[in-house]
Amino acid sequence: MKNLIFLGPPGSGKGTQAVKLAEKIGVLHLSTGDLLRTAVKEGTELGKQAKQYMERGELVPDELLIGLIESKVTNGDLDNGFILDGFPRTVPQAESLDGMFEKNNMKLDAAILLQVSDEEVVKRLSGRWFCPKCQRTYNFPANMPKQEGICDDDGEKLQRRPDDEEAVVRNRLEVYKKQTQPIEDYYRKKSVLIEVNGEQSPDSVFNDLLKVVGSQVTEERI
Ligand code: AP5
Repeated sequence: MKNLIFLGPPGSGKGTQAVKLAEKIGVLHLSTGDLLRTAVKEGTELGKQAKQYMERGELVPDELLIGLIESKVTNGDLDNGFILDGFPRTVPQAESLDGMFEKNNMKLDAAILLQVSDEEVVKRLSGRWFCPKCQRTYNFPANMPKQEGICDDDGEKLQRRPDDEEAVVRNRLEVYKKQTQPIEDYYRKKSVLIEVNGEQSPDSVFNDLLKVVGSQVTEERI
């Protein structure tokens, strides 16, 4: 399995697992959240349009995201396998993606849903810190850096995401239920939805994912 979508509520571990799995199976990890945050930081036209939605925990309009992904598909960026993390997030996005795959003779192998409860999401996101330089994420108290507030890899001061404030997280959860959850059924009906318990240790979730994608690697802990 090399063509994958990761689904799941905010904080379910999509980014954490997608980075590791993409490296392990040698495919591209494409996170729309990361692309949008970079666009906001760089002040591009996309970033200017996306910023207000992201700060409120709402979805950026479909046409912006669909155009973004379409350009990646057309450029051949996904040709050697991919994990899409954060896209699609609405039924129109899922339908557009199907159209892009059809046009480019591509096939989705699985949509993997990480299941995590609301309370776990709030707990995780209120403890999330990240390195603005290398994007590595930490979690207090589960996954702390060696020196408090400093990235282990490059010594940068860790930061919090503005949309990780509890009120915004609760709104993101509502948005997920209303706008994104319907695509779980969309992929279930296509018989490509695979549910994984995301409320285990990161290593256990990763081992379950390896079983799903059929990797031979089971002993090496990431
Ligand atoms: P995006 O960045 O995609 O946010 P999200 O889906 O809300 O996901 P998160 O990054 O918050 O969580 P995650 O599931 O990746 O979890 P993580 O691994 O980081 O999108 C941000 C915004 O951009 C959206 O709100 C929207 O405005 C916009 N956007 C993006 N895509 C869009 C689209 N397609 N359409 C429209 N708008 C779009 O883990 C979270 C924390 O938990 C970390 O601290 C981590 O260390 C910890 N953790 C992870 N796994 C575990 C574990 N097993 N046990 C304990 N802690 C864990």
